[in-house]
Amino acid sequence: MKSVTMDELITYCNRYGFIFQGSEIYGGLANTWDYGPLGTRLKNNIKDAWRYFFIQKRKNSYELDSDILMNPTVWKASGHLDGFSDPLLDCKECKTRHRADNLINDFDVYANADAMNHEEMVAYIKKYSIPCPKCGKSNFTDLRQFNLMFETKRGVIDDSSSKIYLRPENAQGEYVNFLNVLRTMRTKLPFSIGQIGKAFRNEITPGNFIFRTIEFEQMEYQTFCKKGDDEKLYEYFKQYGLEFFKFIGLSAEHMRYRDHDKLVFYAKAACDIEYLFPFGWGEINGTHNRTDYDLSRHQQFSGKSLEYLDTETNEKFIPYVIESTYGLGRLILAVLYECLEEEALEGGETRQVLRIKESLAPIKVNVLPLIKKRHAVKAQSIYEELSMHLMTSYDEAGNIGRRYRRGDAIGTPYAVTIDDDTLDNNMVTVRYRDSMNQEKVNVDDLVEFLLKKCRISR
Ligand code: GAP
Repeated sequence: MKSVTMDELITYCNRYGFIFQGSEIYGGLANTWDYGPLGTRLKNNIKDAWRYFFIQKRKNSYELDSDILMNPTVWKASGHLDGFSDPLLDCKECKTRHRADNLINDFDVYANADAMNHEEMVAYIKKYSIPCPKCGKSNFTDLRQFNLMFETKRGVIDDSSSKIYLRPENAQGEYVNFLNVLRTMRTKLPFSIGQIGKAFRNEITPGNFIFRTIEFEQMEYQTFCKKGDDEKLYEYFKQYGLEFFKFIGLSAEHMRYRDHDKLVFYAKAACDIEYLFPFGWGEINGTHNRTDYDLSRHQQFSGKSLEYLDTETNEKFIPYVIESTYGLGRLILAVLYECLEEEALEGGETRQVLRIKESLAPIKVNVLPLIKKRHAVKAQSIYEELSMHLMTSYDEAGNIGRRYRRGDAIGTPYAVTIDDDTLDNNMVTVRYRDSMNQEKVNVDDLVEFLLKKCRISR
């Protein structure tokens, strides 16, 4: 287990401009967070890694960007209107609201509330007189299901017909565009539709920083296939998810599979990959065998045939779907936690270093004039040249040691120092974040030298 705590991670993110509290100057809004300049770059780099791994590298794989707002019948067909809810109860004494399953799991880690139905949870809470975590009394209201979808209204008339929803997942956009992608990409089964996009859930439970938020981004990936090919693909995507996590730098010993105990009625199999966060194991991805449920339901509710014609056998059928889904915020948290280190140096000193993979680093190279007065002009011209090729920063304030430390702390893999040797001999010093070793490089070769290093690290 690593030594960085959640509080230290939150402080780090705020200090260096990765993540700020949402609406901070107004006292914030619970479970909302804003990504700062470095956090935004990290987020985009993880999206690019996912695009590379899922869209670019895989055959018959297409990206989509569907709207957040959809025809409300989509949510009837998907089952979200009737079944996307949390079991909630309120403490009658202190009025705090709780999720019944969390109350039970926190009371007894072996209880496994995820496998209980509504009545079993009520009976369990009564049997053990589970106390309210806030006031210690055991006096709760009845348990009720609370729908997690955010509602909004369209148009000027405020009635039930104007009600629409912020999507709680990206997947439905991918299902309703199944025919469009099939037709326009002239593809065949098996093929995949992936999408990166926002989703919204009215979560009431504490968030553990960006682990659970009410607005978040998902990278969702649906593979449409013939029944009979589904089980092999399901196993394949469980493995592929793990490969993706290793690709972005998460280590195998911090991850584990967790099969779902209680499957939704239409699912044939479901498994999460969990990561060992400072607060314990938490889900970062899910692989689901959703059978032909989603397309069948959309066919039923839209009245439009979503059958696939196999031109080799002349058979018509509704494809099965294997879903592979990733929470972007949770990956950012996992990557930062995995890579952030307080390193002991010789002489009793320490440094904070983010040992992040080059391709994910928010800034690839930091340009530093050794002495501002003497070297800034040359350093500026090198910065301008480098920034045409790589995300580059320029830092001339403070002593060189401190500037190196700041670059290390935000994970910048290379620092380029401009000194008298640059003015006299056209040579700069390249310093490596991880080893702190230094190397002389000719300015004329610098762009190629750094580009090659970044390419190799991919
Ligand atoms: N389409 C299937 C689906 O949405 P999910 O397990 O509910 O499945 C997929 O969500 C992923 O989205 C999760 O593995 C998790 O990483 C992320 N996620 C879910 N709820 C979240 C929340 N409230 N805040 C942040 N990420 C969340």
